[in-house]
Amino acid sequence: MKAIKFFFALAAATAALCANAQTKVFDIDLKKVGAPIQPTMYGIFFEDINYAADGGLYAELVKNRSFEFPYALQGWKAFGKVEICDDGPFDRCPHYARLKDPGHRDKQTGLDNEGFFGIGVEAGKSYDFSVWARVPDGGEGAIRVELVNTASNGENQFFTQDRVRISGKEWKKYTATLRPGVTDPKAVLRIFLDAPRATVDLEHVSLVPGDALEGIYRKDLAQALADLHPGIFRFPGGCIVEGTDLDTRYNWKNSVGPVENRPINENRWEYTFPHRFFPDYFQSYGLGFYEFFLLSEIIGSEPLPILSCGLACQFQNDDISAHVPVDELGPYIQDAIDLIEFANGGTDTKWGALRASMGHPEPFNLKYLGIGNEQWDSIYPERLAPFVEALRKTHPEIKIVGSSGPNSEGDQFDYLWPEMRRLGADLVDEHFYRPETWFLSQGARYDSYDRKGPKVFAGEYACHGTGRKYNHFHASLLEAAFMTGLERNADIVHMATYAPLFAHVEGWQWRPDLIWFDNLRSMRTASWHVQHLYGEYRGENVLRLTSAGVPVTGAEGQDGLFASAVKDGNLIYVKVANTSETAQPLCFNFTGLKKKDPGVKGVKRVVFTSDRLYEDNTLDEPDAIVPSEQAFTGSGKALEAVVPALSFNVFVFEKE
Ligand code: AHR
Repeated sequence: MKAIKFFFALAAATAALCANAQTKVFDIDLKKVGAPIQPTMYGIFFEDINYAADGGLYAELVKNRSFEFPYALQGWKAFGKVEICDDGPFDRCPHYARLKDPGHRDKQTGLDNEGFFGIGVEAGKSYDFSVWARVPDGGEGAIRVELVNTASNGENQFFTQDRVRISGKEWKKYTATLRPGVTDPKAVLRIFLDAPRATVDLEHVSLVPGDALEGIYRKDLAQALADLHPGIFRFPGGCIVEGTDLDTRYNWKNSVGPVENRPINENRWEYTFPHRFFPDYFQSYGLGFYEFFLLSEIIGSEPLPILSCGLACQFQNDDISAHVPVDELGPYIQDAIDLIEFANGGTDTKWGALRASMGHPEPFNLKYLGIGNEQWDSIYPERLAPFVEALRKTHPEIKIVGSSGPNSEGDQFDYLWPEMRRLGADLVDEHFYRPETWFLSQGARYDSYDRKGPKVFAGEYACHGTGRKYNHFHASLLEAAFMTGLERNADIVHMATYAPLFAHVEGWQWRPDLIWFDNLRSMRTASWHVQHLYGEYRGENVLRLTSAGVPVTGAEGQDGLFASAVKDGNLIYVKVANTSETAQPLCFNFTGLKKKDPGVKGVKRVVFTSDRLYEDNTLDEPDAIVPSEQAFTGSGKALEAVVPALSFNVFVFEKE
């Protein structure tokens, strides 16, 4: 009876504060501060798919720079007398090109490199050319390096050139700087032999924009990551971790040390989708584990490498013989232990010394390690178990991330979660590429998760619209709605990363993606803006937000509204997704305040909406669909606002 009286008293007070009867009341409890929101909560997932690494974030502009592709001249056009030799100075990348005298003063010997869908260069910028070279017979030689505009109708095809003198029998690194006076998204790098009767050998031909971050990362793409303030950085995949077969799994040890000596690997996304076939898609490993760790550090994320658990991609291999037998996992487990040493070990250790030799004597402070990507069936836990056992013994400080398979629910999911709990995984990586209906139905997904045991890592997710499996605003809105459930459950959800991260407009295999680019431009999608808003307004602790006593999860009767609230010092961020086609008046009713407390004041609101529901930003119009900051004033214990139809909103309040 007492409780009922109290409820009516509360309802009356609320009604008094929230005057309009049509208004939905969101009660936000300021008295009880909820679970902390992990710094790792919102992050990024990098996989070399859609030319995300070579041709994308990795700033190298030359394709097949070491002549190591299976067809040594893939990506190159040779003219005159060019031979490929295989006794070069780098044992794991032994091939190089030999340029010989063409035999007549009017003839030419040399090579054109096509880059990745062309070589993008901008007028006024500098480009650092380098090559390992020698004159095999000794003496003097030279090459002429040009950037060529193949589409040009002008007198000169080339728009910048430099001559590089090569001398002596020893392999040496030579450099030049090219400064194009024209912008061309699809230039060609042309190298002429430029010394009569000389033979010159060339190896590891490189061209990198002078403004590349650390000389490694394409500037605009790295900036788009940094601007997300990602708390966690999962790499290097995805399916490429596993390999189409074990030989082509991502082998991190091949991705470290001098770039000249990193053997290439095939990229499974070359052929996974026959309708999006890219026969020259390989991994140079130029963007390797060192570069991933370094980037994590630069953008302030915790690194989360994922390693093969000894299972080749299960989508591509039904036969158990494709995988490593459990009793032969030793080298794979050793790879994991060595990786921890590479990241964290002292400079007096083997792998720590390698890290130091690459320029980073300080440890990278690795804390998390994933074993396996999208695995399923008992063959996964059977293999994860010995990893867990060995890692607990050698590195109890490292948190282990296991997998719940490729599906968001179902038999395998239901089998794997208890298995992860049994094995003592610290986090479980869930993946969901699902349609609109799924996202709309999952607002309360984590409300009922078992609080004991592993935490959740929503490691790959994106709304794949039915019939609209491409980037558009509506998909991003549903992602925003779903993410209120991640936030509300921050006690159990510790990490979340949208996927995939990057796509080249001419080289994609998978859509939607977070950031699109061509050779010179990039575009942040509507989904990027949603991720950005969550990162920007992450907050420190969850606050309880309810309407009529229950969380706002898009449930029946809640008119397509999803909401969550967090506290950040004196600030309060309330996120509201209105997935309905009607604008809705809301009243934010702050409870748990003392009578004398003045309440809160409105600071601002950010509104993300668009009438171009099934469109997204484009390279030509990169800011067509962006959030807008608006004034939001008023103060007291209850503040009203209208959320537009089909909009995501962040309200910022300050406790007075
Ligand atoms: O993100 C693309 C792919 O989707 C990943 O490689 C894989 O983990 C998932 O199936």
